[in-house]
Amino acid sequence: MKLTALLLPLTLVGPALATTNAIVGALTTVDQTTIKLGKAVTKWKGDIFGTLPIITESTTLLVQVKKGTKAAEDSPALDFQQTIDVATATNKLVVSVNTTLSALITSKRKFDKLLMSPLIFVNLGLQKHATSEMSAAIIAKVPKELQELAKGLVAPIDASFEKAIDVFHP
Ligand SMILES: *[C@@H]1O[C@H](CO)[C@@H](O)[C@H](O)[C@H]1NC(C)=O
Repeated sequence: MKLTALLLPLTLVGPALATTNAIVGALTTVDQTTIKLGKAVTKWKGDIFGTLPIITESTTLLVQVKKGTKAAEDSPALDFQQTIDVATATNKLVVSVNTTLSALITSKRKFDKLLMSPLIFVNLGLQKHATSEMSAAIIAKVPKELQELAKGLVAPIDASFEKAIDVFHP
């Protein structure tokens, strides 16, 4: 009993330490900025000044996604546990991307009034492209037998971008 109690924390801490991977960190950073961007859009009243945080977060996001691609390219192949961790982080990102792009779609008329919708459209295209590249780089590091599953997992992100791009298409 006592031995189990002693070993349990070790087994919990051990794998977590062993499986730390830069991809999870990068995905978490991307997720947090996606959430910040969504909040900036939701809070926005439609004034020109309020577009600043939106543009800032959106630019930061693009840089972070590119860093995520680099992290994935530089990463060694993921083992099973690391794949689970990456999948968990991806699932969170799927939700944030949906929420943020939904907020963007809801705000379309405000962007229209400032003649900014074409800019958002171009930005969404860049973001979608960068995100696809990041996904591909991550999937390449997932064990072969899990790659199809991984593709299914990131597919909703692409679908969210498609929806938003459709709405902002001039
Ligand atoms: C977000 O998810 C809901 C529920 O699956 C879906 O109906 C909606 O179209 C999605 N929106 C975007 C922008 O991805």
